[in-house]
Amino acid sequence: MSDLTDQKAVSLAAIDGAETLDALEAERVAALGKKGWVSLALKTLGGMSPEERSAAAPAIQAVRAEVADAISAKKDALEASVLEAQLASETIDLTLPAPDQQVGSVHPVSQVMDELAEIFADLGFAVATGPEIEDDWHNFTALNMDESHPARAMHDTFYFPDAAPDGGQMLLRTHTSPVQIRSMKEQGAPIRIIAPGRVYRSDSDATHTPMFHQVEGLVIDRDIHLGHLKWTLETFFKAFFEREDIELRLRPSYFPFTEPSVEFDVGYANEGDRRVVGGHGDDDGHDWMELGGSGMVNPRVLEFAGLDPAEWQGFAFGLGIDRIAMLKYGMNDLRAFFDGDPRWLAHYGFSPFDQPTLSAGVGARP
Ligand code: PHE
Repeated sequence: MSDLTDQKAVSLAAIDGAETLDALEAERVAALGKKGWVSLALKTLGGMSPEERSAAAPAIQAVRAEVADAISAKKDALEASVLEAQLASETIDLTLPAPDQQVGSVHPVSQVMDELAEIFADLGFAVATGPEIEDDWHNFTALNMDESHPARAMHDTFYFPDAAPDGGQMLLRTHTSPVQIRSMKEQGAPIRIIAPGRVYRSDSDATHTPMFHQVEGLVIDRDIHLGHLKWTLETFFKAFFEREDIELRLRPSYFPFTEPSVEFDVGYANEGDRRVVGGHGDDDGHDWMELGGSGMVNPRVLEFAGLDPAEWQGFAFGLGIDRIAMLKYGMNDLRAFFDGDPRWLAHYGFSPFDQPTLSAGVGARP
């Protein structure tokens, strides 16, 4: 029995002196492990008579409990000091700059579409959409271009081999004007919408890409005239280019779906190699630049779309989004818009946190 008392004293001293969790674990194995001295002492009970065993067992169990308690107390103490050491060494300086985060940017075309929607929303226009894969009825026929119309050939259309549900041809829409038809058919009159989106023509050089962006505008009501069109476009361009001296020129033109038709030009000046919008196009150092087509909706188009031309009339316009983006933000090659080069985007892109609002400026740089 005194053997056990000695071993206990040695073991408790070693447990108390353990400086690491590993050293403590070694002591635990030496005492309570399968071949530890406590376990061996417990095993000796097996060879005793019942009387001897009930005399010896309480002392051995007491030693075992004392050693186990000592180990667990020491373990708590060691763990606490490890945590304290960690807290002391791993300080974080909250005043240091945060590591660089990669932040994506908004493509100028998306930014301009947001700006458009924002400005036109203030003028009471809703945003409408239509499919990019169209049928020739919506893209041409209902816009007063029947199969033999020469304007169809001028559109450089991408056609699909499969037929449309009505037997006509499927195609990539060549302009946003089919959304006029869809809006009139779906919602009836009165209407005040813009329809921004992608359009496709088989054409490619520095100022033309096979895919580009337009925004369509359509207002249908009872007493709409060309004066409303001019005011709307002028008001839009003043807000969009953020200057008051915008001059618009309406020039007689022809589109099958408007009558009369006008193209609209904006006055600009060359400053270095940059075109800056503003001023009268006939002034010194100024010229006119065409921005889009428009006119009063042709009564035949109203009929195709199910509206009574005796009751309703309105104006429509179509405008190149990429072109006004280039003008506003000073880019000169349209093809770079769609190359997907992240360096170009880093240069011209917009912060995702820069939401256009009329009060804070629609195109303010962060
Ligand atoms: N859809 C015409 C085009 O792409 C533009 C336009 C729209 C003209 C609406 C008149 C009215 O050229």
